[in-house]
Amino acid sequence: MKILVCGSHGRMGQFIISLASQYGCEVIGEMNRESNFEAELSKNPDVCLDFSSPDALIKLCSIAEKYKTKIVSGTTGLSDEQERRVTLSAENFPILYGTNFSIGIFILNKLVKAAAKSLPTSFDIEIIEAHHSQKKDAPSGTAMTLLKAIQGERQCVENFGRHGECKRSIGEIGLHSVRGGDIVGDHEVLFAGQGERLELIHRATNREVFARGALYAAQKFVAINRPGLYTLDDVL
Ligand SMILES: NC(=O)c1ccc[n+]([C@@H]2O[C@H](COP(=O)([O-])OP(=O)(O)OC[C@H]3O[C@@H](n4cnc5c(N)ncnc54)[C@H](OP(=O)(O)O)[C@@H]3O)[C@@H](O)[C@H]2O)c1
Repeated sequence: MKILVCGSHGRMGQFIISLASQYGCEVIGEMNRESNFEAELSKNPDVCLDFSSPDALIKLCSIAEKYKTKIVSGTTGLSDEQERRVTLSAENFPILYGTNFSIGIFILNKLVKAAAKSLPTSFDIEIIEAHHSQKKDAPSGTAMTLLKAIQGERQCVENFGRHGECKRSIGEIGLHSVRGGDIVGDHEVLFAGQGERLELIHRATNREVFARGALYAAQKFVAINRPGLYTLDDVL
């Protein structure tokens, strides 16, 4: 399978390049800030793996429309407008988008959905995420995905962090972002009831897991030809 790597100089891009051959992938091109995207996409790769920035992803999508290049993207921090732009592009070619390519997080999402559906609404829900000090966006894309999964099961309103007078209101979900050191990525969803609490926790200890998950998903995704916006749910 021939792949392009968008964001190849970055931490994730470097992992993708070093692990690619283990997943039967040959890297035929790389894209970074100074790259000519059109020249790279014209190489006709099977898939372009993107871990870059929202601006780069939007640029990638606009040029991929011409070449119908399949994209697997894990870039986070997209604005609502950028999300809409990606969704529009996916009407023309297949895009697999995931805010977290770890297989453990994929299962966490399913467990969180099940808990949000089955536990009485009297259980209070809080999402706590922790990442390294250089992370640009907060809350993490994964925390937002977990929030949406819960909101798909019950009515609740997010509350980003708390300070001062802030007694909890019914149907509220608190989101808390911890930043420090070299934390790769922790996500905890807490369901707190009266006399018991359920804590669902995932900890990534090495960023390699995201690259491995993306390469694994790309292997499956390459068989999909119908345009659309896909998630890991569709390929795993
Ligand atoms: N979904 C997941 O599982 C997952 C896991 C980890 C990280 N991520 C996300 O993946 C993204 C990359 O993370 P990272 O830690 O690898 O970041 P990073 O080390 O900062 O690398 C970013 C890469 O993107 C390129 N880039 C940035 N803006 C660009 C632009 N406008 N045009 C072209 N290239 C551009 C950079 O190129 P230059 O070197 O030329 O600046 C660099 O190669 C982030 O959004 C992060 O949150 C997702």
